[in-house]
Amino acid sequence: MATSEVQLEVVRTRGELRRALAAAPRPIGLVPTMGWLHEGHRSLIQRARSENATTVVTIFVNPRQFNSPEDLARYPRSEGRDLAICAEEAVDLVFAPPVDEVYPPGFDTTVSIGAVGQPLEGAARPGHFEGVATVVAILFALVGADRAYFGQKDAQQVMVVRRMAIDLALPTDVIACPTVREADGLALSSRNVHLSAAEREAAPILHRALLAARSRWAAGERSAKTLRQVMSDELALEPLAKVEYTSVADGQTLRELARVDGAALLSLAVRFGSTRLIDNEPLP
Ligand code: PAF
Repeated sequence: MATSEVQLEVVRTRGELRRALAAAPRPIGLVPTMGWLHEGHRSLIQRARSENATTVVTIFVNPRQFNSPEDLARYPRSEGRDLAICAEEAVDLVFAPPVDEVYPPGFDTTVSIGAVGQPLEGAARPGHFEGVATVVAILFALVGADRAYFGQKDAQQVMVVRRMAIDLALPTDVIACPTVREADGLALSSRNVHLSAAEREAAPILHRALLAARSRWAAGERSAKTLRQVMSDELALEPLAKVEYTSVADGQTLRELARVDGAALLSLAVRFGSTRLIDNEPLP
């Protein structure tokens, strides 16, 4: 057995987690995940390891953030593979709880999200961010991490969680890490596994659409309407892509802009068959 496998400790209950962390050297870095780990998660783990004395990964497919039982049921899972990746990355501790360790019997409290969680993904997936914020608040409380690492691919999630951590005085700094992409530009996501071969080939259109808008912006275009149109026109080149939204929003509030004069977020959501993909590009 490799040394890294010997070092990986996996705990399942709140009590085991507390005991395992009682003497853990600080600072503690947390990487919250829903499993099916990919290179994007590896980059979060590596960043956490480089900045903290102890790295904790949580693996929990959170039922409260899915919009339908079908979506929850088809979320990919493979704990053995995930634990092997954590061992390879020399993670110190994995918390992989059953549902009732996160949500004890009688669970009756949720975090309610303000304005930043309302548009875009919040509008497309009602209740999603309440589910995310609630589980992240629980994980922050259980792990007591100094820092937690999230992928910029879910830009609105980062904003919602950061706002919550500030507002609720949670002692965990929220750190956003760059989106990791395949060579052809497709942002890594656990959902990519559901794409058919033809859909996978078509999916880099999301990144191309964002880059087309970014280069128009770099050339001096400041009309948000025009930049949205640039993204829509690019996406229209791909018959398999069914566009849900294209957005040019304020980088702080995520309100749709008329003109891009400061920090902004280009983002989009596109369906390929039954698989929904999102991506974004911050400006500048
Ligand atoms: O980004 C995710 O994988 C999830 O939304 C998170 C942050 C682990 C909460 O369940």
